Amino acid sequence: MTCIIIGAKNLERVYFNGVIKTYALKNISLNINGGEFVAIMGPSGSGKSTLLHQLGLLDIPTKGEILIDDEDVVNLSDDERTRFRLEKLGYVFQSYNLIPELTTLENVYITPMAQGIPTEKYKEMAKDILNKVGLGDRMNHYPSELSGGQQQRVSIARALVNKPKILYADEPTANLDSDSSKETIKLFRQLNKEIGQTIVMVTHELDEGKKADRIVWVKDGVLDTDKM
Ligand SMILES: Nc1ncnc2c1ncn2[C@@H]1O[C@H](COP(=O)(O)OP(=O)(O)OP(=O)(O)O)[C@@H](O)[C@H]1O
Ligand SMILES: [Mg+2]
Repeated sequence: MTCIIIGAKNLERVYFNGVIKTYALKNISLNINGGEFVAIMGPSGSGKSTLLHQLGLLDIPTKGEILIDDEDVVNLSDDERTRFRLEKLGYVFQSYNLIPELTTLENVYITPMAQGIPTEKYKEMAKDILNKVGLGDRMNHYPSELSGGQQQRVSIARALVNKPKILYADEPTANLDSDSSKETIKLFRQLNKEIGQTIVMVTHELDEGKKADRIVWVKDGVLDTDKM
């Protein structure tokens, strides 16, 4: 049975710098099912990152509704929003944002450690996900001792260590060579199939978009329904 995990209705995001209003998102309605792997594509400046930020609770829409896992997430308080993100959402960005002084294993377990999970348990969680992303033999390496693709896999493991309901990725392969890019997308596909991970990924690469279950096209802040 499929069920909607993200339901967005009439989303609008206007940026106002005191002089100019920019309508980054105009009127976007979109449903994403649990267990779906969705790619968001479109020209530069079309609103892809803005859309991902709204759906990922990294920004608040000017208008519209967003339900995630049946919860109205637009009207949460700051504390509730932070807690919701920590418990249910994971993020991967272009830059891996790993802590250079920490090993692979430590970079992955710092979040569950900070949440007060017992030592044995958080180490086991981190090892488990690192094995899944194919880094079981790199646990004690530092980021500077890893390739770009491996560093991105550490950041994916870090995003997934808490078993978030949804993984958001904004151009996760933008800084990778073509082999590492392919590996990263293959990993997303595999995580989606094996653990049913819901994934929402912005990409510029049509080859990558085609690997997802569905491509959502954005153009000038609206859905480009002609292409969908
Ligand atoms: N903080 C901001 N203030 C004003 N305008 C903004 C701000 N952030 C984004 N915009 C504008 O909103 C529009 C959408 O930006 P967004 O970053 O979502 O595009 P994008 O599709 O992700 O582009 P790219 O492919 O280049 O990453 C752009 O016109 C951009 O200039
Ligand atoms: Mg962007």
